[in-house]
Amino acid sequence: MARAPQISPSILSADFARLADEAARVEGAADWLHVDVMDNHFVPNLTLGLPVVESLLKSTTIPVDCHLMIEDPDRWAPQYAEAGAGSVTFHVEAATAPIKLAREIRAQNARAGMALRPATPVEPYADLLPELDMLLVMTVEPGFGGQGFLDVVLPKIRRAKALIGDLDVWLQVDGGVSESTIERCAEAGADVFVAGNAVYGAADPAAAVERLRTKAAQARA
Ligand code: DX5
Ligand code: ZN
Repeated sequence: MARAPQISPSILSADFARLADEAARVEGAADWLHVDVMDNHFVPNLTLGLPVVESLLKSTTIPVDCHLMIEDPDRWAPQYAEAGAGSVTFHVEAATAPIKLAREIRAQNARAGMALRPATPVEPYADLLPELDMLLVMTVEPGFGGQGFLDVVLPKIRRAKALIGDLDVWLQVDGGVSESTIERCAEAGADVFVAGNAVYGAADPAAAVERLRTKAAQARA
């Protein structure tokens, strides 16, 4: 049976000077708050790090979904879990020991996620899936919000869903997810939908979350 869709608004598209207020705008609607950590090395953009995540954790009741677009996640990712993030996702392209890392994240009582850039195949990582709580298939090149959705990734989402099979591993998509693309993702098998511009670019972000959820649920029905 298909899982209920979950929506994770990305604060990358929010006002960074008012993060607590921006989180409050989706409270009661969002399942997660997606926080994009970028180090200007793994991706050509710089956002925020552990001190800001620690402050945000104190300012919201929404579980925090950290997406680490950083080099050496083996060193840094467990600290986000220890700080209280509900989910911590590292990029497999940057990780040295992804199995050890996923176990360390889980040992801090966070969900362990592993992300794939658009051109990274999923098949070589099939055996790692039982070590994970979530697989993130990027639907844009990581680094910036507001990019166009890459339809070319849809077959990989389908293959990832098939590899997950009956395992209790969520399948997340991130990048260009909007009211016009979320149905394609849901039909391909995604369960967790990150949306930046589609939520924070809307006049009413909470209403935008609900519209996205409805479209995803309809597509999965
Ligand atoms: C991009 C980030 C995304 C970004 C998505 O590298 O990982 O989370 O915020 O933004 P939209 O939904 O606007 O493409
Ligand atoms: Zn992200």
